[in-house]
Amino acid sequence: MLAIRLTAEPERLDTLVLPVRPGVADDASAEPVPTGVTPPDGIVDEVAALIPVTRFAGRAGDLHTQWRPGGTPRRLLLLGIGDADEAAWRRGGAALVRAVKDETHVTLSLPEGIASDAVRGLVEGLLLGSYRFRLGADPDAPALTDVDLAVADPEAYEQAVTVAQTTARMTRLARDLTNMPSSVKNPQWFVEQVAEAVADLPGLTLRVREPEQLAAEGFGGILAVGGGSASGPRLIELDWNPPQADTHVALVGKGITFDTGGISIKPVPAMKLMRKDMAGAAAVVAATLGAASLRLPVRVTTLAPLAENMVSGAAFRPGDIVRHYGGMTSETTNSDAEGRLVLADALAYAVREIKPDLLIDLATLTGANAVALGTRTGALYSDNDQLAEDLLTAIRAAGESAWRMPLPNDYVEHLGSDLADLHSAPTQGGGSVLAALYLREFTGELGERWLHIDMSAPSWCERDDAELTKGATGWGVRGLLRWLATLD
Ligand code: BES
Ligand code: MN
Ligand code: ZN
Repeated sequence: MLAIRLTAEPERLDTLVLPVRPGVADDASAEPVPTGVTPPDGIVDEVAALIPVTRFAGRAGDLHTQWRPGGTPRRLLLLGIGDADEAAWRRGGAALVRAVKDETHVTLSLPEGIASDAVRGLVEGLLLGSYRFRLGADPDAPALTDVDLAVADPEAYEQAVTVAQTTARMTRLARDLTNMPSSVKNPQWFVEQVAEAVADLPGLTLRVREPEQLAAEGFGGILAVGGGSASGPRLIELDWNPPQADTHVALVGKGITFDTGGISIKPVPAMKLMRKDMAGAAAVVAATLGAASLRLPVRVTTLAPLAENMVSGAAFRPGDIVRHYGGMTSETTNSDAEGRLVLADALAYAVREIKPDLLIDLATLTGANAVALGTRTGALYSDNDQLAEDLLTAIRAAGESAWRMPLPNDYVEHLGSDLADLHSAPTQGGGSVLAALYLREFTGELGERWLHIDMSAPSWCERDDAELTKGATGWGVRGLLRWLATLD
């Protein structure tokens, strides 16, 4: 990860970035922004002169490089800051790291009196836009290692930088876990990654259930889905329990380390990215590690049911009836509706044993998420208006996107089965909504304190886009951390 340093006395001025804002009136030209630390003599005038000749508009993320052979700086960059809010700076930070990959270090002069939120956005943009995942040699590895932020009063921004660094580090961890091929990433591997992260952070406890314990305690959904794989299922229970906490949140994340669909096997195009089917588990675990790292005064208990949905002689079958933790039964007509089966166990366990104040789950649950909302937006469900509003606000502020969807009681009848308490894969359409309604059946007396997000679509992106990089996005980590920080 890039090293970010706040400094009042920048030493390395060979690559210098100066912020430029758009003109105020419609026809006014963009202008350099006064910075807290004065750049070398004459540079501000040079920027002012460059703006009209380069038609620099100053929109968030606009960049212009001016080479100055033999000068200081030898490379001057104009960075557009648009509205200069957190989102604009996030975009600017990501654009900057892409533009200066070939430099080892860069100094960016921050505007005088810049808001801490803006610095937070900038740092997140720098650290997320420069993310890469690659196994083996990396001939195009960027040279950039250091970004100095020049500002007159560095102490004022230390907290914002720390929060942004933690948020980005955890988002990058979620991306790493999700990008990892499933030949490596089996349930036990995921457990080991979490155990390593926990070892670095005091105050967290990790409990892992293996198949024998899962069987002894009746986690029939996790065992059914994981039964077909040579790598047995696990249930992670991670607890951050600070002494000052008044609120107790339980987070649950779908952790299917590969989803073939099982006996109801997926066609080739639908299967190719199914290593990402544990992105919910990655997000809730990373957010919990972030909460511990920032020592947030809220208790967080996180459950990640991990299983590989494979095809084999030991796989569960369409038509099998699964008995979940707590005793509810599901008729499973389609083994590709596996996520809800493992989540049902975890939700039922949370309700009975964890008894949190609030219960949140994240899952790459249905292809229907993208049908309804496109490629970047999660589908958020809750019967609790306040909770829905709070999460949506945090998610948007963090630069992620979700849209609230309905839980129509009229549809509950579609979940009926002649043979079991519930039917796990109704075929009426509205796949994301019906999956949410199915999960709600396991929330018992916490039904009004539960919120679910189907994040199938935004968990992945097909191309670099601002702070997102091609592949896993780490969606949910930023929004969850931001929301957790509002609780105490
Ligand atoms: N993991 C998939 C959902 C998914 C699809 C995530 C595309 C990300 C991108 C899930 O387990 C699944 O297969 N869902 C089925 C449910 C159906 C069988 C009721 C689906 O969406 O088709
Ligand atoms: Mn599936
Ligand atoms: Zn799945």
